[in-house]
Amino acid sequence: MIAKDIYYIGADDRDIDLFEGQYVVPNGIAYNSYVILDEKIAVMDTVDKRRSEEFLANLKEVLGERTPDYLVVDHVEPDHASSIKALVDTYPDITLVGNAKTFQMLPNYFDLDYGNAVTVKEGDTLKLGKHELTFVMAPMVHWPEVMMTYDSYAKVLFSADAFGKFGALDADEDWDCEARRYYFNIVGKYGAQAQAVLKKAAGLDIQVICPLHGPVLKETIGHVLEKYQIWTTYGVESEGVFIAYASLHGNTAAAAEKLAEILRKKGCPKVVVADLARGDMAEALEDAFRYGKVVLAASTYNAGIMPFMEDFLHHLAAKNYQKRTVALIENGSWAPMAAKGMKELLEKMKEIALVEPVVTLRGVLKENDIPALNALADALLG
Ligand code: FEO
Repeated sequence: MIAKDIYYIGADDRDIDLFEGQYVVPNGIAYNSYVILDEKIAVMDTVDKRRSEEFLANLKEVLGERTPDYLVVDHVEPDHASSIKALVDTYPDITLVGNAKTFQMLPNYFDLDYGNAVTVKEGDTLKLGKHELTFVMAPMVHWPEVMMTYDSYAKVLFSADAFGKFGALDADEDWDCEARRYYFNIVGKYGAQAQAVLKKAAGLDIQVICPLHGPVLKETIGHVLEKYQIWTTYGVESEGVFIAYASLHGNTAAAAEKLAEILRKKGCPKVVVADLARGDMAEALEDAFRYGKVVLAASTYNAGIMPFMEDFLHHLAAKNYQKRTVALIENGSWAPMAAKGMKELLEKMKEIALVEPVVTLRGVLKENDIPALNALADALLG
């Protein structure tokens, strides 16, 4: 039991190769589902169909001979909803609870008869007995139909994808790191919408947060809300400089490492360097949001930007990247063009302060390039 009459019935998935077909999850992912036992019984979302059997077995173990009355569908994305059919097949009398968009989108995935369905809107309530559920619409956090559900008796917020993280529940790892990588990659584009929901949540007495991924949050709620306040407003979380590079023959990489060394010597509190070709792009994106100052170093390629850097900039734009100071290093043996291309992509983003001048290298990093890197470091630290 995780709170008054509320039980966990979700499942870990450590076999998945890529979450959402794109994110590496070295410690897997948890698909959370919960059940509230009262005079009426409510199941709170289901799990990915990859774990349907385990989910149904967990539910059965909690219910015994009882049957669930409601399935609250806070989010239709298949990592939470693709076991709905298995649940309805097992308990055909169950009533689905969702909003108008929920029921508009569900048929995209299931051929179901929604005879037993209750459509709710912002502020509507559903009484289970002692527990009363209030529905809070959370559009675009992270799909348009998303809603959160507040249990005013247990003081629990079922928060859908918000406050989730990558990693199975039995993974022994820091919350911040994988929650940050999860937030910016999954929800990052929708900071304004997440802010709007945070404001609504501020009016609720929340003692427990039950997200759809990651651990149930109790003692750390203050810390988690503090992080979300920064993340959803695109604020700077950590002092320091993030350097991302895409290097053809290791020369641009050497310049990036040299700049890192100079920054450290000059007292920069933290310098993080990422190789975009070999590292995890999702982690690089996370760090680009974490720090306020970012250096992009790229070789010229086909009269443009080396593809890994171009790809990275497209990822940043897609996540609404903004409010950062960005410096550029380009490399090109005969016609350096990477900075021009990077600038064009950065100009489409909001509130990006470009550090001038751009550092231009021609092949191998030489002694006479060091003053330009020193000047760049001073400009970043100034
Ligand atoms: Fe965890 Fe948006 O699904």
